[in-house]
Amino acid sequence: MPGGSAAAVAVVSGGGTGIGRATAAALAADGMDVVILGRRAEVLRTAAKGINQYRPAGSGELSWVRADVSDPAETIQAAEVIRERHPVIDVVVNNAGGSVRSGAGLGELATAWLEAYRRNVISAVLLTSALLPLVRRAGRPSRRRSRR
Ligand SMILES: NC(=O)c1ccc[n+]([C@@H]2O[C@H](COP(=O)([O-])OP(=O)(O)OC[C@H]3O[C@@H](n4cnc5c(N)ncnc54)[C@H](OP(=O)(O)O)[C@@H]3O)[C@@H](O)[C@H]2O)c1
Repeated sequence: MPGGSAAAVAVVSGGGTGIGRATAAALAADGMDVVILGRRAEVLRTAAKGINQYRPAGSGELSWVRADVSDPAETIQAAEVIRERHPVIDVVVNNAGGSVRSGAGLGELATAWLEAYRRNVISAVLLTSALLPLVRRAGRPSRRRSRR
């Protein structure tokens, strides 16, 4: 049931592999419901299956949404899918990204740096902005009080 769980909720971009996958698994093991994002559905499906299979009893559930978070339309769509599952979000981990190889020329260097900026910075700005309304709701005074 959307929003039916009392568990805190985390969204981890790039959560299908590497650091993001390890972060998502640790948050789920801590009892949070976690949504991982990435561009490859099969990678996400495999990661979710692996984490859910071995999570301890009472730990949070992990689900996935396929999205390119450097693309505004896909990020908006992903945020809508997440909102349907979890109307309130407690943590956003902007982990998606990666390095970009460059050729020798200055033109190639400029292209590579622009791509690196899009991959690592714009993606974080888009996902944070798209999810912000849900995160703000988590910061309502009543919930803040209950955490003290
Ligand atoms: N490992 C290091 O030493 C190191 C050092 C400094 C910084 N970092 C940063 O830490 C983060 C994780 O690194 P990692 O080593 O774990 O690398 P990784 O395994 O390649 O993780 C990157 C993840 O981000 C996803 N991703 C990339 N672009 C995306 C996009 N536009 N939309 C959605 N998902 C996207 C990838 O999945 P898809 O390809 O399926 O989308 C992948 O799951 C990266 O941002 C990296 O730049 C790593």
